[in-house]
Amino acid sequence: MTSLGSAGYRDVPEHAGGSAARSWWDDNADEYLTEHGEFLGPDGFRWGPEGLREDDARLLGDVAGRDVLEVGAGAAHCSRWLARRGARVVATDVSAGMLRGARELSTRTGATVPLVQADARALPFADDAFDLAFTSFGAVPFVPDAARIHREVARVLRPGGRWVFSTTHPLRWAFPDDPSEHGLTAQRSYFDRRPYVETDADGAVSYAEYHRTVGDHVRDVVAAGLDVVDLVEPEWDPANTEVWGGWGPVRGRLLPGTLVVVATAH
Ligand SMILES: C[S@@+](CC[C@H](N)C(=O)[O-])C[C@H]1O[C@@H](n2cnc3c(N)ncnc32)[C@H](O)[C@@H]1O
Repeated sequence: MTSLGSAGYRDVPEHAGGSAARSWWDDNADEYLTEHGEFLGPDGFRWGPEGLREDDARLLGDVAGRDVLEVGAGAAHCSRWLARRGARVVATDVSAGMLRGARELSTRTGATVPLVQADARALPFADDAFDLAFTSFGAVPFVPDAARIHREVARVLRPGGRWVFSTTHPLRWAFPDDPSEHGLTAQRSYFDRRPYVETDADGAVSYAEYHRTVGDHVRDVVAAGLDVVDLVEPEWDPANTEVWGGWGPVRGRLLPGTLVVVATAH
């Protein structure tokens, strides 16, 4: 694990912020998958820590026989869910470490999905190749230029195709990353777009996470030529006792933690 030099909210060069994810997720893949693997389930599909399952939400619609792209797939839990329901799915992620986790899980479960290492901002697929594209918390929060992801997704989707992505609910950025009662007081401006950045002991950017307001997300997606058809704000499942970083049942009862954007290509 990289030793921490500094952590806080500040602007950094876009290239440094956008390229940090790959090695950070390589270094932290095992820890992430050990910590969250059981909640996610080897072939489960949840849109976020609130617990909303695609089985119930059906935001992708019918998936059987559809060509589906997952970006920021991590260990491809969601892609395995899709494959079991008859979709032709490809799971992509920028991190070789996360994809190694995906291979191990596929071997363990016997549910294999094609894996491709790719930055969601430069997808190695032809135009009009997919009916559906999605991510559950992948890629979008970790790049300074999410509009590039939306443009790439718009390019590879067929007319009428659907793009669904979940990300940190923008409201969360005003609150400290604390799942307890102490996390219930806003401490930062919702409108402060500076990313959360960690550096290593040499001062190099090792982690960056980007904030966009709800309006920023909508404008980015629309500018890519897609139509926003829904903004879903999952409510905390009362049966869910999982604490995931700053998310947990205490704040989940009161504040949204996840925003799911549903858009269509035309
Ligand atoms: C919070 S994890 C979510 C993984 C998975 N969707 C899940 O629910 O477990 C974020 C994922 O986004 C990936 N990621 C970050 N930046 C990316 C980029 N520019 N392109 C593709 N994937 C990226 C990371 O490697 C990581 O696997």
